[in-house]
Parts: sequence; C-alpha cells; structure tokens
Amino acid sequence: MVEESDVRRAAWDQVADAWARNRDFMWDTTRQVGEWLVDRVDPKPGDVIVDLAGGPGENGFLAARRLKTSGKVIVTDFAPGMVAVARRRADELGLGNVETRVLDATEMDLEGDSVDGIICRWGLMLMPDPGAALGECRRVLKDGGRLALSVWGDPERNPWVTVTGRTLDRLGFPPARDPFGPGGMFSLSDPGSLQSMVKAAGFTEVEVEEMEIDWRFDSFDHFWTYQTEVSSSMSAFVRELESSEVERFRLALEANVKPFHKDSGLLLAGMTLNVSAS
Ligand SMILES: C[S@@+](CC[C@H](N)C(=O)[O-])C[C@H]1O[C@@H](n2cnc3c(N)ncnc32)[C@H](O)[C@@H]1O
Repeated sequence: MVEESDVRRAAWDQVADAWARNRDFMWDTTRQVGEWLVDRVDPKPGDVIVDLAGGPGENGFLAARRLKTSGKVIVTDFAPGMVAVARRRADELGLGNVETRVLDATEMDLEGDSVDGIICRWGLMLMPDPGAALGECRRVLKDGGRLALSVWGDPERNPWVTVTGRTLDRLGFPPARDPFGPGGMFSLSDPGSLQSMVKAAGFTEVEVEEMEIDWRFDSFDHFWTYQTEVSSSMSAFVRELESSEVERFRLALEANVKPFHKDSGLLLAGMTLNVSAS
C-alpha cells in the first residue's frame, strides 16, 4: 500500500529541479526570514545545526557561513531529490561544513541531545503530525538548544498564494488539499495555537513574531511559472489537467491578479509567523 507520506515525498521530488531553477528568486524574496531564523539560532563555531525540511538548503548555508571555523550544518529533507539539489549547491559554494541527509522530521535518525540548533522554514505546517516533529526537535536538541521555525500566517495576508487557490475555487476545481487541515499550508496559521503546540512539545521560552514578505514578480508569466512549478501540490494538479483546462485556469488567474499590478510587474503580499523556542 502506498503511504500518504510517500505520495507527498514523491510530489516534492518532482519539483526539486524547479526549486533549483528558482533558487535565486526565492532567496532574494525571502532572505529576511532565513536571516531571522539563523539569528535566533545564533550558530557559534563548534555547533551542530540542523536545517529541517531544508529543501534547496539556503537557510542551512547561511548558518554554515556563520559557523566559520568549526562545527557543521546538516541540511535535511525527506525528499531525496531536494537533498541532491542542496548537495550540489553546497559543493558549488565550497561549503565544507555542510552535510546533507535524507531525514523525515517526524522520525529523525539523530541521537538525542546531539544538536545545538534547529532551523525549519516552511516545513512544519506541511507535516500531518507537526507535534511529532516538534517532539523530535526537543529530543535531539541539547539542553539550552534553540529552535527557530517559520510557518505561513493568516491566509488573508497571503494573497501571493491564496489568489491562486481562490481562482481554482471559483472555477469549480476541488482543492488538492484542505489548506487548514493537517499538512495544509495554513494548518498552523493561528499564532496562539502554534505557540501552545511548541510549548506542548517541551519548549518553555516560545516567542512568535509576524514578518511580512513582498512577492515581486516581473510579469504575469513569471508569476504563473512560479506558482505552477514550485508548489508540489499545484504542480501535480496542473500536470493532470487537459491543456484547455490549463488555459482556462491561466486566463482566470491573469484576470484575478490584475489588482496586484505594480510598476511593470506584480506585487503581492505575504506574511509568515516566525517562532523562536528553547
Ligand atoms: C516549502 S519547502 C521549504 C524548503 C526550505 N526550508 C526553504 O525554506 O526554502 C518544504 C520542504 O519540506 C519538505 N518536507 C515536507 N515534509 C517533510 C517531512 N516530514 N520531513 C522532512 N522534510 C519534509 C519538502 O520535501 C520540502 O523540501
């Protein structure tokens, strides 16, 4: 029997090359979130830092540069394709202190009390059992170890992605997944519940902060390509559509993003919840 986690992993593997292609755009747009996370974990020489659900690895690479002379960052992801993308990039950058590993965040193959810091950007809310992942974070972190993570906040403040889902709704396409259900993009978007969940995993000092992100796209074509090739669920959905349906979707989306035209491109808001915990 095919497990749901295998389906999710395969969907992420499918988009790994697209994440490599879009790496610079994504990092330029979202770097401030990565910097916030790495600042909170505050890597020091000698530390072992894990980038959990690290995808193409940029957040981990930032942490690796802060370690300077000793210590290491383990960039992990449950999708082997993503880990391969991160490995290639770490080698291109000559980052000798980056290890890469296939690892499921909800069942970490890591010793207890072995890690000084964990960063996890936009991974936790995608896990159907985020409490299990947080429990694993607590287990592998040393006493005093730091966790910094981010998840997407209020959908009303994230039109950069909700405009696409709403367009599909209006066209009568069933949602690929309930965005508020377990593993959905907005499943951890309530700051109070998020804070309680992190505390329930055994973290005592837990702070949640909002951060805004401006998503600037050069053109509608850029926006369309990004939306349909980077999101694992959207990309899988579009691959299954007839070409006439793809065209219908594209035209409707183009009309719905008209209010977001700014200068010669598009500007759509995003808001993420950043959590630091120890
Ligand atoms: C939205 S991407 C974020 C990637 C990266 N952290 C970043 O900020 O660019 C989510 C990543 O989570 C990974 N992922 C989802 N569920 C996971 C799990 N249970 N364990 C480990 N990785 C997981 C996916 O493979 C994907 O690479």
